[in-house]
Amino acid sequence: MKQADADPLAHTRADFPLLQRCIDGQPITHLDSAATAPKPRCVIEAVTGYYLECTANVHRGVHVLSEESTELFERARQEVASFINAAPSEIVFTRNSTEGINLVASGLGLREDDEVIVTALEHHSNYMPWRLHARAVPVGLLPDGVPRYEELGGRLSSKTRLVALAQVSNTLGAIAPVADWIAAAHAHGIPALVDASQSASHLPIDVRAMDCDFLVMSGHKLLGPSGIGVLYGKRERLEALAPYQVGGGMVKLHEEEQFVLQDVPWRFEAGTPNIEGAIGLGAAVTYLRNLGMETVQRHSVELGRRLVTRLRAIGGVEILADSVPDGQRIGLATFVVKAPGLGQENIARLLCDRHQILVSGGYHCAHMLHQRLNLEGTVRASTHVFNNEADIDRLAEALTEIVEV
Ligand code: ALA
Repeated sequence: MKQADADPLAHTRADFPLLQRCIDGQPITHLDSAATAPKPRCVIEAVTGYYLECTANVHRGVHVLSEESTELFERARQEVASFINAAPSEIVFTRNSTEGINLVASGLGLREDDEVIVTALEHHSNYMPWRLHARAVPVGLLPDGVPRYEELGGRLSSKTRLVALAQVSNTLGAIAPVADWIAAAHAHGIPALVDASQSASHLPIDVRAMDCDFLVMSGHKLLGPSGIGVLYGKRERLEALAPYQVGGGMVKLHEEEQFVLQDVPWRFEAGTPNIEGAIGLGAAVTYLRNLGMETVQRHSVELGRRLVTRLRAIGGVEILADSVPDGQRIGLATFVVKAPGLGQENIARLLCDRHQILVSGGYHCAHMLHQRLNLEGTVRASTHVFNNEADIDRLAEALTEIVEV
């Protein structure tokens, strides 16, 4: 990707109005999509189109606008299903990945001595729900933060009810061996949940080929709106889950003596859903599919390689998960910057205030990882389809300046 024309996604920059934003009169360098991604114009237009042309409730009204809204909402479900090779009936709209995981944790009927195997680097959303409803049993970590995935076999027991793993860690950017975990769990008759919050907009996902039982995604990291997410479940797995919330829209019949649940997926969507969010998410995944997820993956891995190469060359910068093999990291790197008197959040703030470079600073909702590695925070740079090597070079130059002061 030395020349702009060698970057097959260079044209996407023009699709993101937010990238025109300046701070102190200088254009921003956006390297914070892992926290939440800017939105392409097609997503903004899909949401405003719903507001301007057919705002109405779904599945409830009889008038034309309600029919149009319902059609757009259900079409979005089909678009999301196609994006991950699922059936529309296997797609539950949630608020985010967190809600999808809570739904499964609550609906499985776990008991407090049941066990769910995770890694110690999981995001809080893929750790705390298991802790609340059962026992979360983590595999260990290597000194640079990479999980000892091979410990899974030794953790599986008669108490294990589920394995739950991020396909890409929001903190390390490393691609996890989900296929191995799913196969190992299934060999013991145990279902597997994949947290695709961070992976879904960087890697092609095929839930049939992956054979996961559940998978969750968050719209806002996937170029879609906030407040919309997805729980995928194999149909029989969804049928076996107890509803997480009750209310309007999730029953076929409600009488004094009885009620009859709607079919899946609607039985899990109590109340008026985030209609515009779902429509925006449908536009986002269609945008990504049109770019080609293989192309998106190549671009992301290439930027990940560039990030690591440039960061490694700066004395005073230490990268987490530096042992991850080449090609096994998306365009995301988390690191510690050693600069006297400055914490990692100060570094992130300096990057913004002096250089207009936007990154994350802190714990990235992965306190367990930081605690185990004895780190008081880290800085995280994360890319998306619109980023290029020049963005990473600007970050490296700014960090060099900061550590050399
Ligand atoms: N989960 C989000 C992050 O990684 C908020 O920053």
